[in-house]
Amino acid sequence: MILFFSGTGNTRMVAEWLAAHLDETLYDVVRQSPATLATHDWTTEKRLGIVFPVYGWGPPPLFLEALAWFFESLHASEREQVGRLYCFALCTCGDDIGHTMQVLDRHLATFSVKPKAHVSVTLPETYVALPFFRLDTPKRCSEKEQVALEKLTRVSEQINSRQTFTDTFPGRMPWTKTYVLRPLFNKHLVKGRYFKVADSCTACGRCADTCPFGNIRMTDNHPTWGDRCAGCLACYHSCPQNAIRYLSSGHKGQYRPKSVLTRLKS
Ligand SMILES: Cc1cc2nc3c(=O)[nH]c(=O)nc-3n(C[C@H](O)[C@H](O)[C@H](O)COP(=O)(O)O)c2cc1C
Repeated sequence: MILFFSGTGNTRMVAEWLAAHLDETLYDVVRQSPATLATHDWTTEKRLGIVFPVYGWGPPPLFLEALAWFFESLHASEREQVGRLYCFALCTCGDDIGHTMQVLDRHLATFSVKPKAHVSVTLPETYVALPFFRLDTPKRCSEKEQVALEKLTRVSEQINSRQTFTDTFPGRMPWTKTYVLRPLFNKHLVKGRYFKVADSCTACGRCADTCPFGNIRMTDNHPTWGDRCAGCLACYHSCPQNAIRYLSSGHKGQYRPKSVLTRLKS
């Protein structure tokens, strides 16, 4: 089984690709309720995959919270069963991941889950909220997609043969990014109340439907954001009017991972 979370869709695409190539089932830890697995027979599982995006050089805190709910919902015997499975962790990123996998491993250790394989896959950038952060050019997107596809093909074979390996890109100053910048990022730059809506908003409600955390409500024909925001920008990128603004997102354009999906699936 592959447990995953995706904001804008990059990670969903990768999770779907892996599920198809490893013959695994998918479970969206944020959108699905653990109750749907109440009668699941864990003895039939071959392995456990944990697939998520990197936000601010770490796993998104709300994703870690959802993972905790998932593991806590298991009975002691099921947890033991899951802890014995071969486990791989794979994150998608736009650039580099810092010490994301160390943060994940520490979190999973609480539930006696220990990934044997750690992988990062670089995909088109989705973060546009700060100055100097912008979307990749179409050319850069296709280069990243091509490299991602080759990497996924390679690592899925390694996972299939239950190898222990690490194939990640921590980047420069990974410790500082994850242990100094990440807490500041999460504390000060991830807030639902920073969203603004331009007059071109037609109140279609797509943002509310797209938000993985159900954090957007339509009130008086106007979207309003609550305080369970991961900053994933799924609402920003999916708005048909490009009417959503977040910090300095300005007119940096939107990203929809459709083209990648077709190619990654082929
Ligand atoms: C809030 C936020 C923070 C991000 N932080 C990082 C980061 O620290 N390092 C990185 O390489 N990419 C970062 N990215 C880019 C995403 O990790 C990347 O585009 C990922 O594939 C998005 O997956 P998703 O579409 O499933 O959300 C960030 C994106 C967002 C929205």
